[in-house]
Amino acid sequence: MTGQQTSPQTTELITGIAELTSQADDGTRLRGAALVIENGRIAWLGPASEAPAADTRTDVGGRAVLPGWVDTHTHIVFAGDRAAEFEARMAGQRYTAGGINTTVTATRAATEEQLIEGAARLRREAEAQGTTFLETKTGYGLDLESETRSARAAAAVADVVTFLGAHLVPAGMDRRDYLDLVTGPMLAAVAPHADYIDAFCEVGAFDVEESREVLLAGRAAGLGVRVHGNQLGFSGGVRLAVELGAASVDHCNHLEERDIEALAGGTTVATLLPACDLSTREPFPPARRLLDAGARIALATNCNPGTSYTTSMPFCVATAVLQMGLTIEEAVWAATRGAAAAVGREHGSDAVGSLTVGGRADLQVLDAPSVAHLAYRPGVPLTMAVWRRGLRSPRGGQDA
Ligand code: NIG
Repeated sequence: MTGQQTSPQTTELITGIAELTSQADDGTRLRGAALVIENGRIAWLGPASEAPAADTRTDVGGRAVLPGWVDTHTHIVFAGDRAAEFEARMAGQRYTAGGINTTVTATRAATEEQLIEGAARLRREAEAQGTTFLETKTGYGLDLESETRSARAAAAVADVVTFLGAHLVPAGMDRRDYLDLVTGPMLAAVAPHADYIDAFCEVGAFDVEESREVLLAGRAAGLGVRVHGNQLGFSGGVRLAVELGAASVDHCNHLEERDIEALAGGTTVATLLPACDLSTREPFPPARRLLDAGARIALATNCNPGTSYTTSMPFCVATAVLQMGLTIEEAVWAATRGAAAAVGREHGSDAVGSLTVGGRADLQVLDAPSVAHLAYRPGVPLTMAVWRRGLRSPRGGQDA
Protein backbone atom coordinates (compact mmCIF):
# COMPACT_ATOMS: atom_id res chain seq x y z
CA MET A 1 0.00 0.00 0.00
CA THR A 2 1.43 3.36 -0.99
CA GLY A 3 0.80 6.77 0.53
CA GLN A 4 2.20 9.14 3.09
CA GLN A 5 1.37 10.82 6.38
CA THR A 6 -0.51 14.07 5.68
CA SER A 7 -1.15 17.16 7.76
CA PRO A 8 -4.80 17.91 8.57
CA GLN A 9 -4.88 20.77 6.07
CA THR A 10 -3.84 18.83 2.96
CA THR A 11 -6.32 16.89 0.85
CA GLU A 12 -5.72 13.15 0.53
CA LEU A 13 -7.26 11.02 -2.19
CA ILE A 14 -7.75 7.33 -1.36
CA THR A 15 -7.85 5.11 -4.43
CA GLY A 16 -7.47 1.41 -5.20
CA ILE A 17 -10.53 0.59 -3.07
CA ALA A 18 -11.83 -2.82 -4.06
CA GLU A 19 -14.94 -2.47 -1.91
CA LEU A 20 -16.19 0.52 0.08
CA THR A 21 -18.63 -0.04 2.93
CA SER A 22 -19.79 3.48 3.68
CA GLN A 23 -22.79 2.63 5.91
CA ALA A 24 -24.45 5.78 4.58
CA ASP A 25 -27.89 4.26 4.02
CA ASP A 26 -27.47 0.52 4.34
CA GLY A 27 -24.64 -1.99 4.38
CA THR A 28 -24.28 -2.03 0.60
CA ARG A 29 -20.69 -2.36 -0.61
CA LEU A 30 -19.58 -0.06 -3.44
CA ARG A 31 -17.09 -1.14 -6.08
CA GLY A 32 -14.69 1.22 -7.87
CA ALA A 33 -15.12 4.03 -5.35
CA ALA A 34 -12.61 6.61 -4.14
CA LEU A 35 -12.73 9.27 -1.42
CA VAL A 36 -11.01 12.49 -0.45
CA ILE A 37 -10.12 13.48 3.11
CA GLU A 38 -9.75 17.13 4.11
CA ASN A 39 -9.56 18.72 7.55
CA GLY A 40 -10.48 15.51 9.29
CA ARG A 41 -13.60 14.99 7.21
CA ILE A 42 -14.69 13.26 4.04
CA ALA A 43 -14.63 16.00 1.41
CA TRP A 44 -15.66 13.85 -1.55
CA LEU A 45 -16.80 10.28 -2.15
CA GLY A 46 -17.76 8.74 -5.50
CA PRO A 47 -16.65 6.71 -8.50
CA ALA A 48 -12.85 6.58 -8.80
CA SER A 49 -13.14 7.62 -12.44
CA GLU A 50 -14.55 10.99 -11.31
CA ALA A 51 -12.22 11.62 -8.38
CA PRO A 52 -10.93 15.21 -8.06
CA ALA A 53 -7.24 16.07 -7.75
CA ALA A 54 -5.77 16.16 -4.24
CA ASP A 55 -2.48 17.13 -2.56
CA THR A 56 -1.57 13.52 -1.84
CA ARG A 57 -2.80 10.17 -2.99
CA THR A 58 -2.88 6.83 -1.18
CA ASP A 59 -3.44 3.72 -3.26
CA VAL A 60 -4.79 0.94 -1.03
CA GLY A 61 -4.03 -1.65 -3.69
CA GLY A 62 -7.35 -3.39 -4.19
CA ARG A 63 -8.39 -3.67 -0.56
CA ALA A 64 -11.60 -3.12 1.41
CA VAL A 65 -12.29 0.22 3.14
CA LEU A 66 -14.89 0.71 5.85
CA PRO A 67 -15.59 3.02 8.82
CA GLY A 68 -13.46 2.58 11.93
CA TRP A 69 -15.08 0.38 14.57
CA VAL A 70 -17.20 2.09 17.21
CA ASP A 71 -16.66 0.20 20.49
CA THR A 72 -19.43 1.35 22.81
CA HIS A 73 -18.86 -0.92 25.79
CA THR A 74 -15.50 -1.15 27.55
CA HIS A 75 -14.24 -1.02 31.13
CA ILE A 76 -10.58 -0.18 30.46
CA VAL A 77 -9.93 1.95 33.55
CA PHE A 78 -8.67 -0.65 36.02
CA ALA A 79 -5.58 -2.13 37.63
CA GLY A 80 -4.56 -5.77 38.10
CA ASP A 81 -5.67 -8.84 36.19
CA ARG A 82 -7.94 -11.81 36.89
CA ALA A 83 -6.29 -14.60 34.92
CA ALA A 84 -6.68 -16.97 37.90
CA GLU A 85 -10.45 -16.35 37.98
CA PHE A 86 -10.59 -16.93 34.23
CA GLU A 87 -8.70 -20.21 34.57
CA ALA A 88 -11.07 -21.37 37.30
CA ARG A 89 -13.99 -20.50 35.06
CA MET A 90 -12.55 -22.50 32.20
CA ALA A 91 -12.28 -25.37 34.69
CA GLY A 92 -16.00 -25.18 35.36
CA GLN A 93 -16.69 -22.39 37.86
CA ARG A 94 -19.54 -20.02 36.96
CA TYR A 95 -19.01 -16.27 36.61
CA THR A 96 -20.59 -14.16 39.37
CA ALA A 97 -20.67 -10.38 39.79
CA GLY A 98 -18.62 -10.73 43.00
CA GLY A 99 -15.36 -11.02 41.02
CA ILE A 100 -15.57 -7.27 40.46
CA ASN A 101 -14.32 -6.76 44.05
CA THR A 102 -10.88 -8.12 43.11
CA THR A 103 -10.42 -5.41 40.50
CA VAL A 104 -11.83 -2.77 42.87
CA THR A 105 -9.08 -3.50 45.39
CA ALA A 106 -6.34 -3.18 42.75
CA THR A 107 -7.90 -0.08 41.16
CA ARG A 108 -8.19 1.78 44.47
CA ALA A 109 -4.48 1.19 45.06
CA ALA A 110 -3.47 2.62 41.67
CA THR A 111 -2.58 6.25 40.95
CA GLU A 112 -4.46 8.26 38.35
CA GLU A 113 -1.36 8.18 36.11
CA GLN A 114 -1.25 4.39 36.32
CA LEU A 115 -4.94 4.16 35.44
CA ILE A 116 -4.49 6.48 32.46
CA GLU A 117 -1.41 4.58 31.31
CA GLY A 118 -3.21 1.21 31.46
CA ALA A 119 -6.30 2.51 29.68
CA ALA A 120 -4.24 4.31 27.01
CA ARG A 121 -2.35 1.09 26.29
CA LEU A 122 -5.63 -0.73 25.69
CA ARG A 123 -6.94 2.13 23.56
CA ARG A 124 -3.80 1.93 21.39
CA GLU A 125 -4.27 -1.82 21.12
CA ALA A 126 -7.88 -1.26 20.00
CA GLU A 127 -6.88 1.38 17.45
CA ALA A 128 -4.34 -0.98 15.88
CA GLN A 129 -7.31 -3.25 15.21
CA GLY A 130 -9.43 -0.55 13.60
CA THR A 131 -11.27 1.03 16.53
CA THR A 132 -11.55 4.79 16.03
CA PHE A 133 -14.22 5.64 18.63
CA LEU A 134 -14.44 4.14 22.10
CA GLU A 135 -16.61 4.39 25.19
CA THR A 136 -15.39 3.44 28.64
CA LYS A 137 -16.75 3.35 32.16
CA THR A 138 -15.90 3.90 35.78
CA GLY A 139 -17.05 1.12 38.08
CA TYR A 140 -13.90 -0.32 39.64
CA GLY A 141 -13.46 2.48 42.20
CA LEU A 142 -16.79 2.31 44.06
CA ASP A 143 -15.89 5.02 46.57
CA LEU A 144 -16.16 8.73 45.94
CA GLU A 145 -12.46 9.41 45.47
CA SER A 146 -11.69 6.34 43.34
CA GLU A 147 -14.74 6.75 41.09
CA THR A 148 -13.86 10.41 40.48
CA ARG A 149 -10.26 9.48 39.70
CA SER A 150 -11.48 6.75 37.35
CA ALA A 151 -13.82 9.19 35.61
CA ARG A 152 -10.98 11.65 35.01
CA ALA A 153 -8.80 8.82 33.68
CA ALA A 154 -11.65 7.66 31.43
CA ALA A 155 -12.13 11.18 30.06
CA ALA A 156 -8.40 11.34 29.28
CA VAL A 157 -8.51 8.28 27.00
CA ALA A 158 -12.05 7.70 25.72
CA ASP A 159 -14.52 9.51 23.47
CA VAL A 160 -17.50 8.75 25.70
CA VAL A 161 -17.46 8.27 29.48
CA THR A 162 -20.06 6.36 31.47
CA PHE A 163 -20.50 6.56 35.26
CA LEU A 164 -20.95 3.03 36.60
CA GLY A 165 -20.87 3.59 40.36
CA ALA A 166 -23.78 1.11 40.41
CA HIS A 167 -21.54 -1.78 39.34
CA LEU A 168 -21.63 -3.54 42.71
CA VAL A 169 -22.18 -2.66 46.36
CA PRO A 170 -18.55 -2.66 47.51
CA ALA A 171 -17.49 -5.17 50.15
CA GLY A 172 -18.20 -3.98 53.68
CA MET A 173 -20.70 -1.27 52.74
CA ASP A 174 -24.39 -1.07 53.64
CA ARG A 175 -26.60 -1.28 50.54
CA ARG A 176 -28.80 1.74 51.31
CA ASP A 177 -25.81 3.86 52.30
CA TYR A 178 -24.08 2.98 49.06
CA LEU A 179 -27.12 3.84 46.91
CA ASP A 180 -27.33 7.20 48.69
CA LEU A 181 -23.65 7.79 47.94
CA VAL A 182 -23.97 6.84 44.26
CA THR A 183 -27.05 8.97 43.67
CA GLY A 184 -25.74 11.86 45.81
CA PRO A 185 -22.14 13.00 46.36
CA MET A 186 -20.53 10.46 44.01
CA LEU A 187 -22.82 11.42 41.13
CA ALA A 188 -22.15 15.11 41.76
CA ALA A 189 -18.39 14.53 41.68
CA VAL A 190 -18.36 12.27 38.61
CA ALA A 191 -21.04 13.89 36.42
CA PRO A 192 -18.79 16.73 35.16
CA HIS A 193 -16.51 14.09 33.59
CA ALA A 194 -19.24 11.78 32.25
CA ASP A 195 -21.74 11.56 29.39
CA TYR A 196 -23.85 8.61 30.56
CA ILE A 197 -24.95 6.83 33.71
CA ASP A 198 -25.19 3.02 33.82
CA ALA A 199 -26.31 0.35 36.30
CA PHE A 200 -25.50 -3.35 36.46
CA CYS A 201 -29.09 -4.62 36.76
CA GLU A 202 -28.44 -8.24 37.68
CA VAL A 203 -28.75 -10.83 40.42
CA GLY A 204 -25.81 -10.17 42.75
CA ALA A 205 -25.57 -6.52 41.70
CA PHE A 206 -28.64 -4.19 41.61
CA ASP A 207 -32.33 -5.03 41.18
CA VAL A 208 -34.73 -3.17 38.90
CA GLU A 209 -35.91 -0.65 41.52
CA GLU A 210 -32.38 0.14 42.68
CA SER A 211 -31.20 0.49 39.08
CA ARG A 212 -34.13 2.77 38.26
CA GLU A 213 -33.28 5.01 41.22
CA VAL A 214 -29.65 5.32 40.08
CA LEU A 215 -30.50 5.89 36.42
CA LEU A 216 -33.11 8.55 37.17
CA ALA A 217 -30.68 10.37 39.46
CA GLY A 218 -28.12 10.34 36.65
CA ARG A 219 -30.64 11.60 34.16
CA ALA A 220 -31.62 14.42 36.52
CA ALA A 221 -27.92 15.35 36.65
CA GLY A 222 -27.89 15.68 32.85
CA LEU A 223 -26.46 12.29 31.89
CA GLY A 224 -27.75 9.95 29.20
CA VAL A 225 -28.85 6.48 30.27
CA ARG A 226 -27.44 3.04 29.44
CA VAL A 227 -27.95 -0.26 31.26
CA HIS A 228 -26.19 -3.60 31.83
CA GLY A 229 -29.15 -5.97 31.54
CA ASN A 230 -30.05 -9.65 31.34
CA GLN A 231 -26.46 -10.91 31.29
CA LEU A 232 -26.73 -13.72 33.82
CA GLY A 233 -30.50 -14.16 34.02
CA PHE A 234 -33.89 -12.55 33.37
CA SER A 235 -33.01 -9.45 35.38
CA GLY A 236 -35.64 -7.04 34.06
CA GLY A 237 -32.85 -4.70 32.95
CA VAL A 238 -33.85 -4.80 29.30
CA ARG A 239 -37.41 -3.66 29.92
CA LEU A 240 -36.22 -1.01 32.38
CA ALA A 241 -33.84 0.33 29.73
CA VAL A 242 -36.59 0.52 27.12
CA GLU A 243 -38.99 2.13 29.60
CA LEU A 244 -36.42 4.84 30.37
CA GLY A 245 -35.53 5.33 26.70
CA ALA A 246 -31.92 4.33 27.38
CA ALA A 247 -29.51 4.73 24.49
CA SER A 248 -28.43 1.12 24.93
CA VAL A 249 -28.95 -2.01 26.98
CA ASP A 250 -25.90 -4.22 26.99
CA HIS A 251 -25.42 -8.02 27.21
CA CYS A 252 -29.03 -9.24 26.57
CA ASN A 253 -28.12 -12.94 26.87
CA HIS A 254 -31.32 -14.04 28.56
CA LEU A 255 -34.35 -12.58 26.79
CA GLU A 256 -38.03 -13.43 27.06
CA GLU A 257 -40.34 -12.77 24.13
CA ARG A 258 -41.62 -9.62 25.86
CA ASP A 259 -38.03 -8.30 26.13
CA ILE A 260 -37.55 -8.74 22.39
CA GLU A 261 -40.91 -7.08 21.71
CA ALA A 262 -39.98 -4.18 23.96
CA LEU A 263 -36.65 -3.66 22.16
CA ALA A 264 -38.34 -3.91 18.77
CA GLY A 265 -40.93 -1.31 19.79
CA GLY A 266 -38.53 1.10 21.51
CA THR A 267 -35.55 3.26 20.70
CA THR A 268 -33.00 1.43 22.86
CA VAL A 269 -30.20 -0.37 21.01
CA ALA A 270 -29.36 -3.92 22.19
CA THR A 271 -25.57 -4.05 22.47
CA LEU A 272 -24.26 -7.60 22.22
CA LEU A 273 -20.88 -8.64 23.63
CA PRO A 274 -19.84 -11.96 22.08
CA ALA A 275 -16.28 -12.03 23.48
CA CYS A 276 -17.74 -11.78 26.98
CA ASP A 277 -20.17 -14.61 26.27
CA LEU A 278 -17.31 -16.87 25.22
CA SER A 279 -15.25 -15.95 28.28
CA THR A 280 -18.13 -16.48 30.72
CA ARG A 281 -19.66 -19.40 28.84
CA GLU A 282 -23.04 -17.71 28.85
CA PRO A 283 -25.40 -18.51 25.97
CA PHE A 284 -25.10 -16.03 23.09
CA PRO A 285 -27.93 -13.48 22.87
CA PRO A 286 -30.66 -14.29 20.33
CA ALA A 287 -29.24 -11.87 17.75
CA ARG A 288 -31.16 -13.32 14.84
CA ARG A 289 -34.49 -13.10 16.68
CA LEU A 290 -33.75 -9.52 17.70
CA LEU A 291 -33.05 -8.45 14.12
CA ASP A 292 -35.97 -10.37 12.69
CA ALA A 293 -38.27 -8.71 15.24
CA GLY A 294 -37.03 -5.27 14.15
CA ALA A 295 -34.76 -4.41 17.10
CA ARG A 296 -31.52 -2.54 16.51
CA ILE A 297 -28.29 -4.14 17.65
CA ALA A 298 -24.67 -3.11 18.20
CA LEU A 299 -21.56 -5.18 18.82
CA ALA A 300 -18.87 -4.20 21.35
CA THR A 301 -15.86 -5.80 23.03
CA ASN A 302 -16.72 -5.22 26.72
CA CYS A 303 -12.96 -5.10 27.29
CA ASN A 304 -12.47 -5.63 31.05
CA PRO A 305 -10.23 -7.80 33.23
CA GLY A 306 -13.04 -10.04 34.48
CA THR A 307 -15.29 -11.21 31.71
CA SER A 308 -13.80 -10.12 28.39
CA TYR A 309 -10.14 -9.17 28.26
CA THR A 310 -9.98 -8.29 24.58
CA THR A 311 -9.92 -5.05 22.59
CA SER A 312 -10.58 -6.80 19.30
CA MET A 313 -13.65 -5.66 17.39
CA PRO A 314 -12.67 -7.92 14.45
CA PHE A 315 -12.88 -10.89 16.81
CA CYS A 316 -16.38 -9.79 17.91
CA VAL A 317 -17.51 -9.35 14.31
CA ALA A 318 -16.18 -12.79 13.35
CA THR A 319 -17.84 -14.42 16.36
CA ALA A 320 -21.15 -12.70 15.65
CA VAL A 321 -21.10 -14.15 12.14
CA LEU A 322 -19.76 -17.60 12.95
CA GLN A 323 -21.65 -18.23 16.18
CA MET A 324 -24.62 -15.87 16.39
CA GLY A 325 -26.16 -16.22 12.95
CA LEU A 326 -25.52 -12.70 11.63
CA THR A 327 -24.58 -12.06 8.02
CA ILE A 328 -21.29 -10.26 7.36
CA GLU A 329 -23.11 -7.06 6.49
CA GLU A 330 -25.29 -7.21 9.63
CA ALA A 331 -22.26 -7.75 11.87
CA VAL A 332 -20.21 -4.97 10.27
CA TRP A 333 -23.21 -2.64 10.50
CA ALA A 334 -23.68 -3.51 14.20
CA ALA A 335 -20.02 -2.70 14.89
CA THR A 336 -20.12 0.66 13.09
CA ARG A 337 -23.41 2.41 12.33
CA GLY A 338 -25.47 0.36 14.82
CA ALA A 339 -22.88 1.06 17.49
CA ALA A 340 -22.98 4.78 16.70
CA ALA A 341 -26.71 4.71 17.49
CA ALA A 342 -25.92 3.10 20.86
CA VAL A 343 -23.98 6.22 21.87
CA GLY A 344 -26.25 8.78 20.22
CA ARG A 345 -23.71 9.51 17.46
CA GLU A 346 -25.51 8.15 14.42
CA HIS A 347 -26.50 11.52 12.96
CA GLY A 348 -25.24 15.08 12.94
CA SER A 349 -21.90 16.73 12.31
CA ASP A 350 -20.09 14.56 14.85
CA ALA A 351 -21.58 11.28 13.65
CA VAL A 352 -19.32 8.22 13.66
CA GLY A 353 -19.65 4.73 12.20
CA SER A 354 -20.34 5.85 8.62
CA LEU A 355 -18.45 7.50 5.77
CA THR A 356 -20.39 10.37 4.23
CA VAL A 357 -19.40 13.67 2.64
CA GLY A 358 -18.95 16.20 5.44
CA GLY A 359 -18.68 13.47 8.08
CA ARG A 360 -15.71 12.43 10.20
CA ALA A 361 -12.90 10.68 8.34
CA ASP A 362 -12.62 7.70 10.69
CA LEU A 363 -11.83 4.75 8.46
CA GLN A 364 -9.82 1.58 8.10
CA VAL A 365 -8.31 -0.49 5.32
CA LEU A 366 -8.38 -4.28 5.57
CA ASP A 367 -5.61 -6.38 4.09
CA ALA A 368 -8.32 -8.17 2.14
CA PRO A 369 -10.52 -7.39 -0.83
CA SER A 370 -13.77 -7.71 1.08
CA VAL A 371 -15.25 -7.38 4.59
CA ALA A 372 -16.27 -11.04 4.24
CA HIS A 373 -12.67 -11.88 5.15
CA LEU A 374 -13.28 -10.65 8.70
CA ALA A 375 -15.16 -13.90 9.36
CA TYR A 376 -13.79 -15.96 6.49
CA ARG A 377 -10.27 -15.60 7.96
CA PRO A 378 -11.04 -15.46 11.71
CA GLY A 379 -8.21 -14.58 14.05
CA VAL A 380 -6.01 -13.18 11.27
CA PRO A 381 -4.86 -9.57 11.88
CA LEU A 382 -6.42 -7.91 8.82
CA THR A 383 -6.31 -4.25 9.89
CA MET A 384 -3.88 -2.64 7.46
CA ALA A 385 -4.25 1.10 8.09
CA VAL A 386 -6.45 3.38 10.17
CA TRP A 387 -7.38 7.06 9.86
CA ARG A 388 -8.90 8.85 12.82
CA ARG A 389 -10.29 12.35 12.23
CA GLY A 390 -8.50 12.27 8.89
CA LEU A 391 -5.06 11.52 10.29
CA ARG A 392 -3.32 8.26 9.55
CA SER A 393 -2.84 6.44 12.82
CA PRO A 394 0.81 5.71 13.59
CA ARG A 395 -0.25 2.35 15.00
CA GLY A 396 -3.16 1.36 12.76
CA GLY A 397 -2.52 -2.08 11.45
CA GLN A 398 0.49 -3.84 10.08
CA ASP A 399 2.22 -1.25 7.94
CA ALA A 400 2.39 1.32 10.73
O1 NIG B 1 -19.82 -6.06 31.57
N1 NIG B 1 -21.33 -7.07 33.88
C1 NIG B 1 -20.76 -6.26 34.54
N2 NIG B 1 -19.55 -5.73 34.32
C2 NIG B 1 -18.56 -6.32 33.48
C3 NIG B 1 -17.76 -7.31 34.20
C4 NIG B 1 -17.08 -6.80 35.34
C5 NIG B 1 -16.13 -7.73 35.97
O2 NIG B 1 -16.42 -8.91 36.22
O3 NIG B 1 -15.06 -7.20 36.27
C6 NIG B 1 -19.20 -6.88 32.26
O4 NIG B 1 -19.11 -8.06 31.97
